[in-house]
Amino acid sequence: MSEVASVLYGREGIRRRIEELGRTITGDYEGRAPVLISVLLGGSVFLADLFREIRLPVAVDFMSISRYDDAAESLGRVRILKDLDQDIGGRDVIVVEDIVDTGLTLSYLASVLESRAPTSVEVCTLLDKSVRRIAPLAIRYRGFDCPDVFVVGYGLDFKERYRNVPDILAIDDIAALTADPDALLGFLADDRRAPNGRGGLAADG
Ligand code: IMP
Ligand code: MG
Repeated sequence: MSEVASVLYGREGIRRRIEELGRTITGDYEGRAPVLISVLLGGSVFLADLFREIRLPVAVDFMSISRYDDAAESLGRVRILKDLDQDIGGRDVIVVEDIVDTGLTLSYLASVLESRAPTSVEVCTLLDKSVRRIAPLAIRYRGFDCPDVFVVGYGLDFKERYRNVPDILAIDDIAALTADPDALLGFLADDRRAPNGRGGLAADG
């Protein structure tokens, strides 16, 4: 359909992986009640699916941050636009992220959270672009080890578009997408929904 992008992780593969992550977290935190913290906006789609696979009395909270992209000396520092509503002191915290790239954002965020004296802080990211990592970061739970390509869909955006694409797409031609931001609308079309609920078959493996 499009040479601009291709399905990297199909919706059914994503669903299965999240089921596994939910099962693992449920086992690891048995008898405890972790707080899942999602970083808006991208992480919210993953959080919504993940926390319904966790069979524990979890709490959920949201944070909104903005990166200082311009200044090199502010590497990874973020401004908190919306802070947590809950006190995480003495709680087990799991930060739920859509993607960890350089890791700068998350390592800064982790240090902010650590300063509030939680019992523990772990990270669960759907995608780990591990080859791009700059900040050393212990990621306890990862969905997929993601190749070094720009991805959209399942919460991830290109200029605030395509967060609602059910599959995760790799952008193969970023120049073409920049020239025509509508180039991926076909991936939102209904005819990609197979009757048995599978989609993105090629990448589902
Ligand atoms: P970093 O780990 O500090 O470099 O930044 C991670 C953040 O950058 C993620 O939470 C995303 O918001 C964004 N990001 C990184 N890679 C991608 C991508 O391939 N597509 C969309 N957003 C991305
Ligand atoms: Mg993010």
